[in-house]
Amino acid sequence: MRETTPRKIIEMKGKEPIVMVTAYDYPSALIADRAGMDIIFVGDSLGMVVYGEPNTLNVSMEQMVFHTRAVSKAVKRALVLADMPFGSYEIDPEEGVRNAVKLIQAGADAVKIEGGYDHRKLVKKLVRMGIPVMGHTGLTPQRYLRLGGYRLMGEAEEEIEEILRDAKALERAGAFAVVIEFTLADVAKLVTEEVSIPTIGIGAGPYVDGQVLVWHDLLGIYENIPPFVKKYADIGSMIQLALENYREDVKGLQFPGREHYWEYLDKNDFERKKRRVLERLEEEGP
Ligand code: KIV
Repeated sequence: MRETTPRKIIEMKGKEPIVMVTAYDYPSALIADRAGMDIIFVGDSLGMVVYGEPNTLNVSMEQMVFHTRAVSKAVKRALVLADMPFGSYEIDPEEGVRNAVKLIQAGADAVKIEGGYDHRKLVKKLVRMGIPVMGHTGLTPQRYLRLGGYRLMGEAEEEIEEILRDAKALERAGAFAVVIEFTLADVAKLVTEEVSIPTIGIGAGPYVDGQVLVWHDLLGIYENIPPFVKKYADIGSMIQLALENYREDVKGLQFPGREHYWEYLDKNDFERKKRRVLERLEEEGP
């Protein structure tokens, strides 16, 4: 069992901000764990940032299991959370249970679903089975078609009601936390005050119990990032520069340098061996 448990995350509410980041493979999860993340999240955002899809709707259970397995092998301290992809839990709750089990068996400590109120029975069932669940309200990217795009939520009164209803339903069903994505900060604050479980914001302002960002966004892998992201590095440019330098070195015969290869010190010894090898191969014929 890893050091950071859902119970520990719940206890952090009001005491210490929770920090969560996505990771989709072994090396990034290793670095995220070393950097002291509380939660390392295999998000279905991998469809967009790893597989180049225009949205998250085509992410499969197989992909989630595959990436969860890689991440879980790297993480010793943080809680590993895995996303339930679109279509893996909404159509048939029994299938939702089976799919959550697959993610836990791949090494996740908990699963995340988008929505709250609509899936309260599934959440209850998973929690009763011993599978910790995080919910997700506000902008739920799996419903972006219905929402009318990736847009700021919580201006309309019905949206405030839906967001709060989701969070309260998740709390009642036994979820250990809820992500609030791209809402007006006042709405995220209201939810944070109204529920006893931690709220983890992304583009939802400072009045929440923690923050989550996508790996590729905060590290500056891509040029286009959501407006609420703070870019902590420019890794994309650094990688490009390194590759350009490598290319230059190869084209200019600067790599490999003398320190990167090994030669026979005794050239006569090599000549003798070479002759014998060539003779033997000649005898063998084609
Ligand atoms: O899939 C994801 O990365 C997410 C975060 C935006 C919370 O759901």
